[in-house]
Amino acid sequence: MSRVKLHDLEFELFIPEAEVNAAVDRLARELKVKYEGKRPLFIGVLNGAFFFAAELMKRLDIECEITFVKVASYLGTNSTGRVTDLIGLNERLEGRHVVVVEDIVDTGNTVKHILDALTDHHPASVSIATLLFKPDAYKQTLPIEHVAVRIPNDFVVGSGLDHDGLGRNLPGIYRIIQ
Ligand code: IMP
Repeated sequence: MSRVKLHDLEFELFIPEAEVNAAVDRLARELKVKYEGKRPLFIGVLNGAFFFAAELMKRLDIECEITFVKVASYLGTNSTGRVTDLIGLNERLEGRHVVVVEDIVDTGNTVKHILDALTDHHPASVSIATLLFKPDAYKQTLPIEHVAVRIPNDFVVGSGLDHDGLGRNLPGIYRIIQ
């Protein structure tokens, strides 16, 4: 499928599934080198990260844990910058190596909010692993250390990302047709 219509918008295939998988393979190897022996705690940010978190976890043959939190910061095709509190974080983070797993880092407001909230729990370290990163949209200064794919500042869906609820189940990444 090279084109899809979701609600009122049309999207075209931008990154095929095989390329996404190759990028996740590479990222899993990078994380293994960094975290082997440290029993990291991965924190997936719902809803978008469920897909990437699963793909990443099945490639990571190290001792690790995964949990999920929820934040709401986005509506429609533009980042509003609105964020809410983390919902569902029950784990003790003190002294743990924490990796925040995101579907996409756009302005960076969401990860900044999450990192600020996590720091209050005194983890040994915190880093970010994201499937997609839009460097041209990024407004924060904290480093996005583990990126599978860098993309231009276009609205995309697929591999967990949605347009008003649709498109999360599409394999690969689809870009909006302007
Ligand atoms: P940020 O706070 O601007 O970095 O936005 C992060 C959140 O916005 C992500 O977790 C996504 O839910 C959403 N988002 C940003 N860009 C896109 C996109 O291109 N497609 C779908 N969702 C997006």
